[in-house]
Amino acid sequence: MKKKSLIIGNWKMNLTPAEATSYLIKLQKKIGEPTSAQVVICPGFLSITAAERALKGTKIELGAQNVASQEPGALTGEIAAKQLEGLVRYVIVGHSERRIHLGERDREIATKLALCHLHHLTPILAVGETLHDYEERLAARVVNSQLTAGLRDLDAEEVEKTIIAYEPVWAIGTGKACSPRYVSQMIAGLRSVISALYGEEVAAKVKFLYGGSINSLNAEAYLDLEGCGGLLVGHESLELDEFAGIVKVAERETAEA
Ligand code: PGA
Repeated sequence: MKKKSLIIGNWKMNLTPAEATSYLIKLQKKIGEPTSAQVVICPGFLSITAAERALKGTKIELGAQNVASQEPGALTGEIAAKQLEGLVRYVIVGHSERRIHLGERDREIATKLALCHLHHLTPILAVGETLHDYEERLAARVVNSQLTAGLRDLDAEEVEKTIIAYEPVWAIGTGKACSPRYVSQMIAGLRSVISALYGEEVAAKVKFLYGGSINSLNAEAYLDLEGCGGLLVGHESLELDEFAGIVKVAERETAEA
């Protein structure tokens, strides 16, 4: 049987704690206890404790959308990995919205990944090329460099446990999901970079996700891809029926494989 697909909902800067609670209670009723898909919700920091309460005793897990690049201390407005330890299992690191709008750099991203591992959190490193990179045929060069720079402070064991989300910037929030064939080529390229740096065995164990304009109608095509272990869902994770639909597709896919 195929490994469980990981379906991650990234709520971005949406939902209050009360809205998060109400959504999650309804989601749980809709999807029940998924057996062949692993479901993770990444609320904003403000809603994490409300989400944790709403999800207690369920199989839905929690992630954070970001983490500080420093240990706890004097850094106003930031949240450290140590503060998230035990509260969430996953952390999205290096999302393109943070790279582009908040100037997040590879150096900082590498430190964040290392801190996640130090505090027993599973980082999801997001990489992806802009439309300009894509049109100039620079996509592979750009994502390979984001990947290499992001992983640089990790040992092989930590790399194995890191999840990589391939999210072309031009497909995020645009309704233009890219072709599954292209995703498959890009994931294969990223995996071969890991193989060259850390060995084939490590590369084979790394889980890759696709993200960018996923919905319940196109999810299957990506989940069918050989190297794709799941999906990172933005906008449609806020639509209860759509997100539940994506989870159902993943459940069916894994069970049938
Ligand atoms: P989207 O976002 O599904 O709205 O395209 C994906 C993401 O940013 O993770």
